[in-house]
Amino acid sequence: MKIDILTLFPEMFSGFVSSSIIKRAIEKGVVDIRVIDYRDYSTDKHHKVDDTIYGGGAGMLISVVPIANCLKDIDGYKCAKKIITSPTGATFNQAKAKELAQEEHIIIVCGHYEGIDARINNYIDEEISIGDYILTGGEVASMAMVDSIVRLLPGAITSESIEDESFNDNMLEYDQFTKPVSFDGYDVPFVLTNGNHEEIKKWRHFNSLAKTYKNRPDLINEAKLSKEDKEYLATLQKDKLS
Ligand SMILES: C[S@@+](CC[C@H](N)C(=O)[O-])C[C@H]1O[C@@H](n2cnc3c(N)ncnc32)[C@H](O)[C@@H]1O
Repeated sequence: MKIDILTLFPEMFSGFVSSSIIKRAIEKGVVDIRVIDYRDYSTDKHHKVDDTIYGGGAGMLISVVPIANCLKDIDGYKCAKKIITSPTGATFNQAKAKELAQEEHIIIVCGHYEGIDARINNYIDEEISIGDYILTGGEVASMAMVDSIVRLLPGAITSESIEDESFNDNMLEYDQFTKPVSFDGYDVPFVLTNGNHEEIKKWRHFNSLAKTYKNRPDLINEAKLSKEDKEYLATLQKDKLS
């Protein structure tokens, strides 16, 4: 996969592309990430990219000109999936990460200041938000998206690690433990230490169900539940009410 990130702050990505899974995925040729400074495409003699807002309002807005010029200069721009990061976009989630992981070429535009001139929408396919809060710029948002997309690409990490993760089947991952078995009076649940794989699977399933019910009831409504799951949830609901 090819990913182009358009930003005014390319230096923010140096740690991101040179650490952990992203670094290894680049080295293995799983992904090619290019970070492009769209200030280089400014037509202003002082390389200015922002200006005051028509109709008034606080702050400065990024002009559509340098971004559109930068986009058009990218090889394969027309066929690539073009995204802008924006709090006004549709919310990013694991399903979106899986969808984008199927693309061959993604271009992500990072806004800054008060955002980008709305005419940018004529050059992109989607506006994506990473959550209902305001970041200073799209850099952190694009890193979050790229991280979650790249780890889904074949060869980035072992596929078993992906299969059991949160949000598969609209459930959160069960609690996990490592050594020591006892610490400060807190013990690892015995069932996880006794080697009975059927019992472990069952414990994990119901732990995952309880955790999703407690932390993300919105997901439970979308999950496929067996009769036994529904009965277990009913006991949790009863406990909550009593
Ligand atoms: C300070 S924000 C602009 C906020 C804008 N004035 C508003 O109220 O919707 C500047 C840039 O940060 C990025 N950004 C901020 N919050 C974001 C979020 N939740 N998801 C994705 N990008 C975000 C976008 O690229 C945005 O153009």
